[in-house]
Amino acid sequence: MKTIAIDGPSGAGKSAIASALAKRLGYEYIDTGALYRTIAYIAVREGGDLSTKELLKRVDAQSIDYKDGAVQLNGEALGDVIRTEAISQKTSQLSKEPAVRDYLLSLQRRLAEDGGVVMEGRDIGTVVLPSADVKFFLTASEEERARRRYEQRLAFGEAVDMETIKADIHARDERDKNRAVAPLKQAADAILVDSTAMSEEEVLDTMVNYVENGH
Ligand code: C5P
Repeated sequence: MKTIAIDGPSGAGKSAIASALAKRLGYEYIDTGALYRTIAYIAVREGGDLSTKELLKRVDAQSIDYKDGAVQLNGEALGDVIRTEAISQKTSQLSKEPAVRDYLLSLQRRLAEDGGVVMEGRDIGTVVLPSADVKFFLTASEEERARRRYEQRLAFGEAVDMETIKADIHARDERDKNRAVAPLKQAADAILVDSTAMSEEEVLDTMVNYVENGH
């Protein structure tokens, strides 16, 4: 049972691919963005401008876990409330805080310790699981990622505007790439997969080949 890390910018199709890959391999899928999103969700719910220290105190008073492919807050799956654009932006702001990253590091490592996982995020191959068996860096052009995010938002029933989506994706990427701690970057030993002109099935086949045959 291997440990597989998938990193990349938002809208590259990581979640869909990581969960499909996990299914194909009979592994568990772990969406680390959902853990960061849960912290942002708690921050918004608690209201006010809490210091990171105070926020983490409040987070610690609740129970965050990951079961059956979803984050559980106090034993309940959160669902789509953590996927709105507002929560996405808040998440990317909070995730540059070293204390927030530290807080989630041990939980992520614990979730992967038995192997048989496909863990997806921004710093899995570089920081969380530097000795993962197979690492992928999944990306696509900014234009294509914005287009996919647009479709996703529409499907959620949110009012969307392409230019706003593009600006939001760009802002989030810049923050994720330029933060001081655990920035989004391709690990030296990660396999680069550019999905701009690839179907989900093609990406999946490419990854399964690497996992099973090493090429
Ligand atoms: O992957 P997703 O878009 O759900 O992640 C939301 C945000 O959480 C990202 O924009 C990023 O700021 C943060 N994140 C992170 N490290 C991870 C996973 C997500 O900083 N491993």
